[in-house]
Amino acid sequence: MPTNHKRLGRLRRSDPLRKIAREVDLSPRHLAYPIFVAEAATEPRPIKSMPGISQLPIGAAEAEAREVLELGIPAIMIFGIPERKDDQASGAAAPDGIVQRTIRTIKDAYPELLVVADVCLCQYMSHGHCGVINAKGEIENDATLELLAQTAVSYAQAGADVVAPSDMMDGRVLAIRRALDSAGFHELPILSYAAKFASSFYGPFREAAESSPEFGDRSSYQLDPANLEEAVREAETDVQEGADMVMVKPALPYLDVLRAVRQAVSVPVAAYNVSGEYAMLKAAADAGHLDEERVVLEALLSIRRAGADLIFTYHAKDAARWLQ
Ligand code: PBG
Repeated sequence: MPTNHKRLGRLRRSDPLRKIAREVDLSPRHLAYPIFVAEAATEPRPIKSMPGISQLPIGAAEAEAREVLELGIPAIMIFGIPERKDDQASGAAAPDGIVQRTIRTIKDAYPELLVVADVCLCQYMSHGHCGVINAKGEIENDATLELLAQTAVSYAQAGADVVAPSDMMDGRVLAIRRALDSAGFHELPILSYAAKFASSFYGPFREAAESSPEFGDRSSYQLDPANLEEAVREAETDVQEGADMVMVKPALPYLDVLRAVRQAVSVPVAAYNVSGEYAMLKAAADAGHLDEERVVLEALLSIRRAGADLIFTYHAKDAARWLQ
């Protein structure tokens, strides 16, 4: 016999009661779908570690955009894989670059779909790092800011609705805000990857985006996976610099960070359910070890529960279908 009259199970006994008691929900409007557009691709090139995801030519990217819109997913995120790279990332801000052309194509066809442009230099750098490298092989934070700002402005000029810097240089949000404002884009929001960890869960992405660093790793600019308080400071700093939204990345191994950031800032918070998280569930599902639909929806719901308003996920299209 219970010692008092409390029985928490009472509210779980029927579907309508569970609906009333449910604290968060998951719907297609909480999702955003990342795509990879390759300048050299003439047809989709499947990415081995990410079943169901391919590097796309622009035409196929336009078709993806249509599907995303029809599924009720509000946003698409574009990653570009340029044909040429150098040590100044000169392709990043090119007006006819692969990302710029893709943005124009998608916005022309589907003006109502939100196009988020990831702003980073690693895909355009011959060495694969997110910033300019000096003779000693170190990242030059301040020299990188100018290039990032030019890149963000060129994405804005191409028609991007949101720019999302993912480089983790200090001061980039302010530098990008100033550059956007002086180019007349006062109204264009910045979604900053504020708490981006030096994570091995990006492995499949680097195959997909052909952006593995040639030497060293990214731990001199991305966050130490041990640090939650520092992640909160990053988010607060980015909001002070003018970020309109902040992101935590990866998502599932960092739900505690997501929760802490959610409580620290009052702007919308996004989470990036990254390539390695996708690859894990896909591999387990393909091996028959897990029920894909159920585990994906549970994982995404848990990211919502931790505090995400928006989830960038390669499962977005599948999840939207399952939720219909
Ligand atoms: C670019 C960038 C990365 C991801 C998003 N933007 C790779 C990295 O920083 O190493 C990872 C996304 C994913 O793993 O799905 N800087």
